[in-house]
Amino acid sequence: MLIDTFGRVATDLRVSLTDRCNLRCTYCMPEEGLQWLAKPDLLTDDEIVRLVRIAVTHLGITEVRFTGGEPLLRPGLVGIVERCAALEPRPRMSLTTNGIGLKRTAQALKAAGLDRVNVSLDTLRPEVFKTLTRRDRHKDVVEGMAAARDAGLTPVKVNAVLMPGLNDDEAPDLLAWAVEQGYELRFIEQMPLDAQHGWKRDGMITAGDILASLRTRFELTEEGQEARGAAPAERWLVDGGPATVGVIASVTRPFCRACDRTRLTADGQVRTCLFATEESDLRGALRSGAPDEEIARLWKVAMWGKKAGSGLDDPSFLQPDRPMSAIGG
Ligand code: GTP
Ligand code: 5AD
Ligand code: SF4
Repeated sequence: MLIDTFGRVATDLRVSLTDRCNLRCTYCMPEEGLQWLAKPDLLTDDEIVRLVRIAVTHLGITEVRFTGGEPLLRPGLVGIVERCAALEPRPRMSLTTNGIGLKRTAQALKAAGLDRVNVSLDTLRPEVFKTLTRRDRHKDVVEGMAAARDAGLTPVKVNAVLMPGLNDDEAPDLLAWAVEQGYELRFIEQMPLDAQHGWKRDGMITAGDILASLRTRFELTEEGQEARGAAPAERWLVDGGPATVGVIASVTRPFCRACDRTRLTADGQVRTCLFATEESDLRGALRSGAPDEEIARLWKVAMWGKKAGSGLDDPSFLQPDRPMSAIGG
């Protein structure tokens, strides 16, 4: 079991498969991209599957989410999913993606054993998409989502970040569209995890702003804490349900007390939190021939260092060295 010193048990593993991305979202990375990890530093497919196996068989992990950067850029993704689906006990598996390439891969991912996907889409307007992501790929994303839904990778969840002056007037339109398409929309508060360190608390759209905007067109009723469990999203029923909308308010209403996550970076470091300032190296242990039990022990020890929360409200808060794209959102 992966338990921390506050008694929280991690059952949810987020695995970053690459730090690279084919978009350049302004709230994430600069136009020129980043200094990507070198190939020899990345875990191999075999190493990833071995770590997931250890997490599932020795450490009580029941949910595995593959992230990036953009995980569909990882050539071995379908094979990794297939091998993880064959583990005993079989973990539930999901993918967080920008959706480009899903049209091509959704069927194969479903056949390999992937359960569901979360896709990022911040706007319904192709021109705004181009400004926000610096790439003209709106159509690919929308088609990718439909392909995921049609392949049964459901529920398809849509993640949207609102940026002042760009798409902050779009919350009701996004919700009307998501309900019509059968997707579960969640709005995410922008967090200080951009590579450029440009985040400002007074420049972000808050959960309060988002809810007020949605209420101009919809009636929202709170779903309640029981249904939420350890999910980062608080959910509301839209016009009495069954459709829901979520808000992931990491900044103004943090959910760290219920956190059930542990993370693995593409270069084999355990991170206990998005905002952790320290990492624990599993790749070195793997490559020096450590047995499963030793790797499981190192992972447990890493979790004892998990902090109570993100520390965002501390006056001494420092943004972690790695940006979101290299941690795995
Ligand atoms: P499900 O609700 O199970 O589908 O997953 P999820 O919402 O955790 O997954 P997803 O990858 O779609 O994450 C959505 C957003 O939640 C991320 O972009 C982050 O903004 C936020 N998030 C995910 N994990 C954490 C976490 O550990 N801490 C904080 N503060 N935010 C997180
Ligand atoms: N703050 C909040 N969400 C972010 N994402 C990327 N960078 C940030 C940030 N700084 C979102 C993406 C994607 C999810 C994995 O994280 O839009 O939906
Ligand atoms: Fe890529 Fe996601 Fe970063 Fe956008 S937010 S550049 S899709 S990793």
